Amino acid sequence: MLSKALLILSVVTFIAACQPQKEEINFPKTDLAVNALIPKPLKVVPTHTAFGLSKNTVILTSSANTELEEVGLFLSNKIKSKIGLDIDVNIQDSEKQFEQFIYINLSDSVDLDSPESYQLYIKKDSIFLNAKTVSGAFRGVQTIRQLIPEKSNDTLTDYPLWPVPSGKIWDKPKFEYRGAMLDVARHFFSVEDVKKYMDILAYYKYNVLHLHLSDDQGWRIEIKSWPKLTQIGSKTEVGGGKGGFYTQENYKELVKYAAERFITIIPEIDMPGHTNAASVSYPFLNGNGKKIKPYTGMRVGFSTFDTRKDTVYSFLDDVIGEIANITPGPYFHIGGDESFVTKKRDYNYFIERVEDIVQKHGKQMIGWDEIAHSKIDSTTIAQHWRTASNALKASKNNSKVILSPGKKAYLDMKYDSLSKYGLDWAGHIPVDVAYNWNPETYVPGLPKEAILGIEAPLWSETISTIEELEYLAFPRAIGYAELGWSTSEYLNWEDYKERLAKQLPFLDMMNVKYYPTKLVDWEK
Ligand code: ACM
Repeated sequence: MLSKALLILSVVTFIAACQPQKEEINFPKTDLAVNALIPKPLKVVPTHTAFGLSKNTVILTSSANTELEEVGLFLSNKIKSKIGLDIDVNIQDSEKQFEQFIYINLSDSVDLDSPESYQLYIKKDSIFLNAKTVSGAFRGVQTIRQLIPEKSNDTLTDYPLWPVPSGKIWDKPKFEYRGAMLDVARHFFSVEDVKKYMDILAYYKYNVLHLHLSDDQGWRIEIKSWPKLTQIGSKTEVGGGKGGFYTQENYKELVKYAAERFITIIPEIDMPGHTNAASVSYPFLNGNGKKIKPYTGMRVGFSTFDTRKDTVYSFLDDVIGEIANITPGPYFHIGGDESFVTKKRDYNYFIERVEDIVQKHGKQMIGWDEIAHSKIDSTTIAQHWRTASNALKASKNNSKVILSPGKKAYLDMKYDSLSKYGLDWAGHIPVDVAYNWNPETYVPGLPKEAILGIEAPLWSETISTIEELEYLAFPRAIGYAELGWSTSEYLNWEDYKERLAKQLPFLDMMNVKYYPTKLVDWEK
C-alpha cells in the first residue's frame, strides 16, 4: 500500500508540475500559530505565507481507499456552504487545469501513531493531508474547514482567493472517546434536530453521540417484537407534550449520518430504574408493586423492572437484540442509574444478567457509575457522573471509565441563576467553569490509563426545541471538544476564550442559538 501511495503522490506532484506557469502571488504574512482552531492541535509550525484557495483549486484523494473520496466530497460540500466556492473532487476530465490542490491520503508514517492522527502540510500551491485512517482524514478535514477564512482577498488576483495560512500541523486526540449525550426521552427531538447537533459536534472532532432512548417519561425507539413500547410508551413527555419515537428506519438514518461524520451512535435503554414508560406499555415488567400510570413530571428514582422474572429478561433479550442489530458501533448503554426502589441484591443480579445479554448480542456494555457495585466484566465501561468512589471501584476492576462529572460536564446545568433553561442540582456551570478542569486529574487516584474519554450529557427535562437545546449546549460543548482532544498542558481559558470568540461566524452560519456569555468578547 505504501508503494501505491507513493506512486499516487508522484503522479500528483507530476500533474501539479505540468500546470502552466502562473504568477507568484505575494500573500500578506500569515501566522498559522495564531488561529481559531478548536480543539487546539498538538503541534503547529507556521511558514508565514498562504495557500490560495480559489476556483482553480481541486481536491484529490488517494485511490488506495475509496472512502477517502467521500471525505473529499464532504470537504468540497462544506467549502461550498461556507464561501460559495465549487471545488471538484478527483476531476474526471484530465484536460481540466488547476493551480492548487488539496490532496487527501492515507499514510503508514510512524509519526501517525493513533487511528485519528493526521498531518497537514500547507504550502502555496498544495495542501497535503496525511492520515493514518479515513477517520483521521475526516478529523484533518475539520481543521482545513476551520482554517479557511470567511472573507476572500479580492486584491491579489483578478478572482477571489481565500488565503489559508501555511505551515505544518501534526495532530492527534488525547482521548479515543469524545462524546455528547442527548436525552430524547424527557422531550423528543426529531431526526433533523439530531442531525443538526451532529453537524456541529463533528466540526469540533467529537466522535460519539450517545442517545438516551428511554426513561420514565417516554420510550423513543421502535421495537418490532414489542410494539406497545411505541404505541403506548412513546406518547408522553415531560410537561404533557405529545412525545414521539424513532422508527428503526429513522434510527438507521441517524446511524448512517453519524457514520458519514465518523461518529459512533451509542443507544441507551435505561434500566432497571427509569423504566416507567416501558412498564406502562407492558405492566408485567413493573417491579415497584404500585399501579402503573403514565408519568410526565421530573422526579427520578421511583420506577423499577421486576428483576426476578424470567419474562423480563426475555423481553430485554428482544429489545437489546433488535437495537444491537441496527447499531454498528461496539457499545450498548444500559443506564443503571438512580434505581432507588430496586433492592441492592436485585440490582446487582439484574446488572449481571443484562451484561450477559448485551455481550451475547456482540456489544460492550456501558452503564452509569452505580454499576461499579455489581460484579461487572472488565470489558464493561462505567460512566462517571456523580460518585467518584464508583469511578475508582470500576478502575480497580480494570474497567475503563468515561468522565461526565455533573458539576463540570452536564450541559443541562444552568449557566447562572438567570439561565432560561436548565437544572441546578449539580450547581451552575458558567462557560469558564465548564472549560476549567482537567479530566486527567479530576478524580483523585483514577489512573490516566483507566480513562476512555469524556462525554457531555444534555438531559432534556427543561428543553423541548432545537433552539433550547442549542442554548444549553453552546458554547459549552465546544470547550468539552477541546478537553477531550487537546493535550492537558495546552488547556488555558484565556487562550481558549479568544479562539471561542472567533467561532461566531460558524455558529451564525449554522444558525445556532448559542448562549452569548459575557465572559467572551464575541467577534461580530
Ligand atoms: C444521571 O444523571 N442520572 C446519570
